[in-house]
Amino acid sequence: MSKKILVTGGLGFIGSHTVVELQNEGFEVVIIDNCSNSSEDVLDGIAAVTGQRPHFEKFDLREKAEVQQFFSKHEDVIGAIHFAASKAVGESVENPLLYYENNLGVLIYILQELTKKGSANFIFSSSCTVYGQADQMPITEDAPVKPAESPYGNTKQVGEEIIKDVCKVNPQLASIALRYFNPIGAHPSNEIGELPLGVPQNLVPFITQTGVGLREQLSVFGDDYPTPDGTCIRDYIHVVDVAKAHVAALQRLLDGKNDENFEVFNLGTGTGSSVMEVIQSFERVSGEKLNYRVAPRRAGDVIQAYADTQKANDVLGWKAHSSLDDAVGSAWNWEKKIRNHEKASI
Ligand code: UD1
Repeated sequence: MSKKILVTGGLGFIGSHTVVELQNEGFEVVIIDNCSNSSEDVLDGIAAVTGQRPHFEKFDLREKAEVQQFFSKHEDVIGAIHFAASKAVGESVENPLLYYENNLGVLIYILQELTKKGSANFIFSSSCTVYGQADQMPITEDAPVKPAESPYGNTKQVGEEIIKDVCKVNPQLASIALRYFNPIGAHPSNEIGELPLGVPQNLVPFITQTGVGLREQLSVFGDDYPTPDGTCIRDYIHVVDVAKAHVAALQRLLDGKNDENFEVFNLGTGTGSSVMEVIQSFERVSGEKLNYRVAPRRAGDVIQAYADTQKANDVLGWKAHSSLDDAVGSAWNWEKKIRNHEKASI
């Protein structure tokens, strides 16, 4: 029986950590990535952790003919985990068609190929952004999907709808959408981690880059929110925990244990942390003082979002294990390592 899994975007942040966990569980991984926001060097990192270099094909999934060729060549693919997508909220507002093409066009091409197979399993990277500002905390999977704030957010909502519709008429296709809260951190081996291009938009990479002196100062986007310390609350989850959830979800489908052929799960820790608490965590684990100032609110930010994790815990049999300090500490170790490498190569 084949154990071959396609991982699109497998050189990216969450993708690369998932490849490691898949290989650790004995799966054979084939990565497709166009390296638009990643580097081929990540293959070395994966090989250093697992002792195995995954098969890699570099092409752009918007090339439909290449997608078709790939599936004809790899008929023994038994499942696909689809990370390849664009994820910058601001850029999606500037260039919506790029986001609809990358995130939805490509999804359609992959589903077209998977539905040609006798049976197929598909895991989709969704986001807690589909809930918008949820009315109740913690957020369960039954919370209503709110109108999207950005084309990026819309691609996650519409992506889920597309998969659901396709699954309805293709019982041989089983799919799970995983709604990520805020993945952060790096592999404990320090061989792979996040490699944001340009100025990071997300909190933790901005903090660690400020810590190493690459950025002058962190702007805390608003301290007048109706939260205990006035800053926004999110559910920060270690990327290795997120990666392990993908293996659990895939295994559920492979074992035929899914209740329906389209399911959704929240991936979070269940604990909310404020921006100030993340800064304090960074200062605790690094022993450094962080240079920050309070700035105006960022458009589109929700006040708070943290997951109800019961469904994932009970049904997937998966639970996040790492603490905020573990996750922030691993992000800090990784940041120090990549900046030292840069200095050494100058
Ligand atoms: C953001 C996106 C979300 C996307 C997710 C993917 C927005 C509005 N939301 O989520 O759609 O799914 O990234 O990675 O862009 N913060 C600061 N200073 C900074 C950066 C962030 O104070 O320099 C604050 C934010 O206001 C927020 C928290 O830190 O309260 C987390 O921000 P971020 O890491 O960007 O994640 P989200 O906003 O949750």
